[in-house]
Order: sequence, then C-alpha cells, then structure tokens
Amino acid sequence: MTDTSTDRDTEGLRDRIAAELARTRARTALLTEAVDDADLMRQHSPLMSPLVWDLAHVGNQEELWLVRDVGGREAVRCDIDDLYDAFKQPRRDRPSLPLLPPAEARAYVATVREKVHDLLDRVTFDSSRLVADGFAFGMIVQHEQQHDETMLATHQLRSGPVALHASPPPEPTVRVPAEVLVPAGPFVMGTDTDPWALDNERPAHRVELPAYVIDAAPVTNGAYRAFIADGGYDDPRWWTEVGWRHRRQAGIAAPMHWQRDGDGWSYLRFGRWERVRDDEPVVHVCFHEAQAYATWAGKRLPTEAEWEKAARWDPATGRSRRYPWGDDDPTSAHANLGQRHLSPAPVGAYPAGVSPLGVHQLIGDVWEWTATPFRGYPGFAAFPYREYSEVFFGDDHQVLRGGSFGTDRAACRGTFRNWDYPIRRQIFSGFRCARDARPDEAHR
Ligand SMILES: [Fe+2]
Repeated sequence: MTDTSTDRDTEGLRDRIAAELARTRARTALLTEAVDDADLMRQHSPLMSPLVWDLAHVGNQEELWLVRDVGGREAVRCDIDDLYDAFKQPRRDRPSLPLLPPAEARAYVATVREKVHDLLDRVTFDSSRLVADGFAFGMIVQHEQQHDETMLATHQLRSGPVALHASPPPEPTVRVPAEVLVPAGPFVMGTDTDPWALDNERPAHRVELPAYVIDAAPVTNGAYRAFIADGGYDDPRWWTEVGWRHRRQAGIAAPMHWQRDGDGWSYLRFGRWERVRDDEPVVHVCFHEAQAYATWAGKRLPTEAEWEKAARWDPATGRSRRYPWGDDDPTSAHANLGQRHLSPAPVGAYPAGVSPLGVHQLIGDVWEWTATPFRGYPGFAAFPYREYSEVFFGDDHQVLRGGSFGTDRAACRGTFRNWDYPIRRQIFSGFRCARDARPDEAHR
C-alpha cells in the first residue's frame, strides 16, 4: 500500500514538473519570438541584457544544475559557461560578448531540455536534499520564470513596433477601504514547509509586531499624481538625504515612462502611449520615490514583516497562510500574475484575492517596496549555493514583495522575497504605505 501511494506521488511530481517546465518554456518562447533576430541581439538599455543572452543563460543554468549536477551527465557545452555567468559578465558588457546567435541559442536550450526530460523520467527524488520534493527542478522553473519577467522588463524598454499583445486586466468590482488595522501580536514569518521555497524564505520564525495600519491597496496613479502636483519632487523635506541626492542627479520628476500630456499624463507601455489611469497602482517608481511619497502622505513604507503579516496572518486560526486567500495556488481570479495582462489591474479588481484582514492586491499587479534591507532570517543557511541570495545580503538592496503582473505564480508566494537597488525602476515596482496605529486605534 505504502509503496503504491509513494509511486503515485512520485509520478504526480514528475508530471507536475514536466507541466511547469513546458508552461515556462512557452512563455520564454513567446517573449523571444515576438521580435526579430537583430532585435534579440540588441541591447535596449544598459540595465538589461540582450534577450538572446537571457535565453541561453536560462539553458546554461538548467544544464549546470540539472544535467550536470543532479544528473551527473556529460556537459552539453562547457565552452560557454563563462559567457552566461551573471557574476562574471556585467549586464552593460553582455552585448559585446561572442553570444550564441538566436538559432544556436534556441537549439542549445532545446538540447538541454531533452536531457532534462530524460533525467526526469529516471530521477527518484530521494538521492539528495537537492532533488527532494523536486526542489532542483522547481528552482530551475523559478529561475527561468524570473528571467521571463526580466525579459518582459526589457520589452518595456525597447523601442520599435509593438511586439506583445494581451487582454486588459479585469475592471474593479468592489470598493476598497483606504486602510486596514493589523492588531498587535506575533505571527509566523517565512516557511519550513513550502517545498520549492528558496533559501532566503527559510526558516519559519515567530515575529512580534505592535499594532499598525496598512493601506488596503497599493498606492494608485491618482494618489501619486497628487504628490507630483503638490511639488513632491521639488521639496527635499519628503526625501531622505540619499534619496534627494539621487532625485537631483538622475533628474527624475515622475514615474519612469510617464510624459506630460496636456493637463494630465500619459505612459508608454510596451510601445503604446496611453492616458494614465487614476485607479491603477503606480508602477516604475524607485524605492526613494516610494519613500518620499509615503513621508509626504504622513505615512511610511511597511517593513517586510508588516507586509507579510498583512498578507498571510489569519486571525481566526493564528496560522500564516501560503497566500492571502489561503493555501491554494493562485488562479486568474485571485491575482494579476503571469503576464496574462500587460499592466497592473485597477484597485478592486481582485476581491477573491483579499487577505483575512481585508488587504487587497498584495500578490500580483506591482512589486511592493518595503522599508527593509535584504538580510537572512535568523537561522538562515545558504542552499544550494551562496550566490543565490547570501551574497546580496546587506544594506545595498531593499526587499520587494508580492510579485507583479509580469511574475509567474511559480515564482510568487506569500513568503517570496525579491530584492533590488533602491534606485531601480525599470522593474515593475510600486508600493503601499503603512503607519503606526494610534493608541485609540490599537486598543479598539
Ligand atoms: Fe539568472
């Protein structure tokens, strides 16, 4: 009996991994087939790689981890390892490398994938911690999905004819309140049990927080426009010293991709100009802009722990959920994920995704800047290698949470942590605000 159900579990895991690999590769194919070969080889911004670099890099990581490490197989191409090593090749230098041309890159990733399917047919998921629960395969799926989001950001930066198409996100169906009170008390942050959770999401640990108030939705374009109209970009009072210096040096005066349009604003989205929509979460702002807005609004950015408690804590059970709506994987009703739409959705469009406390759109739409620099949790242990997260710990990177419309569900959980430099805004980044609860609120 036990053997039979174990066999069935193993087969189920194999099927699920195969399906995730195929789904992910279809997205990669769409993003790299939407433009011609010359466009794939071109660098659209010094911040980004040519798309063809991302493509072969995804295959190279898959070869290193699955074909060579897990599978113990012969290298497909060890001559290109250095070219596609993200640590050895800074992004700005990647276009001048002797990269595999598109046809060769496509053939390479296909060959690697064939070997991975062969390995997947035989692997038993019990030979090492790396393969337990299919972790190494899950890591590779998430890695490719992360590059798919990076490639989407590259598409947003490219000029030329429109290449990507998607339906608009759903319209709002509920009114969302301004703020939600989160009562004082402990909650469990991070995870020990999510099988594909990465090292920086572990271990689960108890965090005690005082009462606080968090915005029930991400800050909208309409609210952000009021900050601009009030001279927010011209008043150093709202900015930190380093933020103000950056604002002056970079000459920023509105979110990236915005342009004045008569008495309002328009934004450029994947090659199309559109009027800025007021009820949509603001996107393409850096940490410093988010922080300045929050100060102007009389608030602050939430800490990472505050964001996660608002997203996961269930007051009825005291448990932390995988997602705001429960433990089930996201569907199209829960959140705007997976590049299904090419913009954030207006506030109130995802009532099924609300958290137990009534906080909306925590998952999907826009990555949310937090006030917390990226560090390991108490008891952190690097796995499977230091370069995944640990080398980025410290004060240089701020944590972002929740995923964006460009993030796939495989690379997005209530515990998932993203990080970036506080000046970055080519990513799909927005934010929501928080504040300490007043005594009269805290003791209601
Ligand atoms: Fe990578």
